[in-house]
Amino acid sequence: MAENRGAIRGLPGRATHLALALGIAALLVLTIEPIYARGRIWIEGILWCCLAVFAWEWIAHLTSAPTVRRKLRYLASPGGLIDTASALAVPSALSFGVSPKSAWLFGAVWLLKLAPEMSGLRQLRRVIVREAGPLASVLAIFLLVLLVASMLVYLAERDEQPDVFGSVPAALWWAVTTLTTTGYGDVVPHTPFGRLIASAVMICGVGIFGLWTGILATGFAAEQRRQNFVKTWEYVRRVPFFSKLGPAAITDVTQMLRRLDLPPRVTIIRKGTAGDCMYFIASGGVDVELPDKRVALGEGDFFGEMALLGANIRNANVVTRQLSTLLVLDLVEFRLLMARHPELAEAIDSEATRRRHENATVTTT
Ligand code: CMP
Repeated sequence: MAENRGAIRGLPGRATHLALALGIAALLVLTIEPIYARGRIWIEGILWCCLAVFAWEWIAHLTSAPTVRRKLRYLASPGGLIDTASALAVPSALSFGVSPKSAWLFGAVWLLKLAPEMSGLRQLRRVIVREAGPLASVLAIFLLVLLVASMLVYLAERDEQPDVFGSVPAALWWAVTTLTTTGYGDVVPHTPFGRLIASAVMICGVGIFGLWTGILATGFAAEQRRQNFVKTWEYVRRVPFFSKLGPAAITDVTQMLRRLDLPPRVTIIRKGTAGDCMYFIASGGVDVELPDKRVALGEGDFFGEMALLGANIRNANVVTRQLSTLLVLDLVEFRLLMARHPELAEAIDSEATRRRHENATVTTT
């Protein structure tokens, strides 16, 4: 859905983005009376043009759907609902007799057109769905503290300030501003007991929001790890070196690797430095710069293993030849891999021995 949006029947995505930027700017300017009074024709002209773009986009979507079922499916989809609202909100408000200046403010729904393109929002939705349980528990605590605080402050302050603490619902306003630590200062408890409650509520507020932040932050980190894992897993599966592994072993190896995308002509390994990781080439290629020649390594090859198996010192420069995706295995994970997957350990060992012999032969001749 997202790929089709803004590219309907030759309407480039850029046109939608431009219309969106101009439309929102015009909506903001519309509310500044002196500017609106002077440039009313221009501002409304821009808004009508933007509306025309969105209406065209909506109609083009509808007409390009070949069957009635497809049309209905589009209209019921989140993108279809946003397109419909973008095309119809302002004309509907105008036709119901709302003044043009107020009717155009319904154009704020145009901003929703950005929602399907924002990957951050999709990620947030996934985090909220996954962490719904803990988030709901904290919400329940929040509401509980809110109600208890309102009741206690009502008891403490109702005689002293009947106008603002005369009922529990009236005291709720104070409880919300205090628990969220906003504290406008418009309603303040006067009695010592009321102040004691206020202090406790403020401390609870800090704790509750800390909990929410913690849950969301760990949720985001876990989601990021999951996405990275899926991408890395795909790469690992494609590297021939790992092709003999079963799914469980591939999953195990994937957890040890991290992805690294590099442009051409980047020096990955410098001769003489200490080695703390090795690399597998998932795509692209690198050149190993030996004293007398260059060895080209490509997809499925690995390098950087010799330092880890020997004296820990790199014996050649390694430079990317083209845009490359590498899978990096850090020293600790290298030890784990060698211990857990003897078949891979053997292959790495024998290739390192072959390379050592090759280099030694070249040096002596
Ligand atoms: P290391 O010594 O850790 O860092 C440089 C890397 O270049 C080395 O590990 C090997 O992976 C690689 N390398 C060294 N010699 C050769 C060779 N003859 N053929 C292919 N790769 C090599």
